[in-house]
Amino acid sequence: MATILVTGGCGFIGRYVTEELLRHGYRVRILDALIDQVHADVQVIVPLQAEVLRGDVRDKALVEQALSDVDGVIHLAAEVGVGQSMYEIARYVGGNDLGTAVLLEAMIGKTVKRIVVASSMSVYGEGRYRVKDGSSLEIVRRKSESIRSGHWDATGPNGEELLPVPTDEEKPIDLASIYALTKYAQEKQVLIFGSAYNIEAVALRLFNVFGAGQALSNPYTGVLANFASRLANGQSPMIFEDGRQRRDFVHVRDVARGFRLALEKPAANGHVINIGSGNAYTIADVALLLADALKVPHIGPDIMNKARSGDIRNCFADISKARELLGFEPQHQLEKSLGPFADWVRSTTSIDRGVDMKRQLEARGLVS
Ligand SMILES: NC(=O)c1ccc[n+]([C@@H]2O[C@H](COP(=O)([O-])OP(=O)(O)OC[C@H]3O[C@@H](n4cnc5c(N)ncnc54)[C@H](O)[C@@H]3O)[C@@H](O)[C@H]2O)c1
Repeated sequence: MATILVTGGCGFIGRYVTEELLRHGYRVRILDALIDQVHADVQVIVPLQAEVLRGDVRDKALVEQALSDVDGVIHLAAEVGVGQSMYEIARYVGGNDLGTAVLLEAMIGKTVKRIVVASSMSVYGEGRYRVKDGSSLEIVRRKSESIRSGHWDATGPNGEELLPVPTDEEKPIDLASIYALTKYAQEKQVLIFGSAYNIEAVALRLFNVFGAGQALSNPYTGVLANFASRLANGQSPMIFEDGRQRRDFVHVRDVARGFRLALEKPAANGHVINIGSGNAYTIADVALLLADALKVPHIGPDIMNKARSGDIRNCFADISKARELLGFEPQHQLEKSLGPFADWVRSTTSIDRGVDMKRQLEARGLVS
């Protein structure tokens, strides 16, 4: 039976990955620091069959111990939050990039055959766009003057209207936040290390992951968790810009299957692969769908008409490569999954820290 080390295995995605691996006959060891921002308000429940080591991926001695007799690594441990990364820079670079570096160094000469790292859609910056004539633009950036004057949509170099289209892995990287920079550095470290040491390596670029068990009280985590926490506390979801920005929401069970497939499929070696649903939703629509699912349709979204520094307008996944290399097919559509997600939200308590998050960003001039 193969043993897999899952770093960050007590986190939201890690718990599902652990379950998925155990269900498929793997032995699982978790290394997780149980950081307060994610775990202070909820009791962490991981399957009993998993072995849990508590500690930081930057602790070389502990990482050496965690790697003993391990066949594969799924590296999820990370500080997760675009907005927060813009002012807690040392924390993000330290946890994510130094953390990955220590893990990789400790893998030299060990038994690990494959490592799969969680990267993020944030490395793309703006997603892919086409001009009306059908041509594709490599890199699109919004001008801060346009954003400040409430022109939220990205435009072409000559001000032309652009059509957002699914983003594939060939889209050039365009890092717009410290978080994105750390995720890109993580994926590059893992792939460079893999080819140098002949250890198979895969990076999965995850889009917006949702599902029961998200840290609802952590305002820096996923948008759906933020909205759920606001709605469950009788507050309107706070929506930056005008709410028409589009994202791709992928269910955490699909993501967990993606990680198992990335560990198993020979063709995945050396690749970066998008893991999304392949569907695009506007943020405002998602807030309305969630309010419906939570049976609070009277609580409308609070459209703030303000932008967060580092935020992008549109990005949703082209998942052809995941289909081809992993045989990945999403099974949990957002519309059908919001009911069970809402049941879980109602069964749990969450502290709404959305306003505090907004204040933290505003105090540093990161909202305009
Ligand atoms: N949730 C998403 O939508 C999403 C999207 C793209 C990428 N990702 C990536 O997926 C991975 C998992 O995300 P998640 O949503 O489960 O986040 P999470 O915050 O729920 O889980 C992260 C886990 O890592 C642990 N951790 C953090 N720093 C650590 C360190 N230095 N040493 C040991 N453990 C540490 C935390 O205690 C936590 O249990 C992350 O790498 C994240 O960047 C997530």
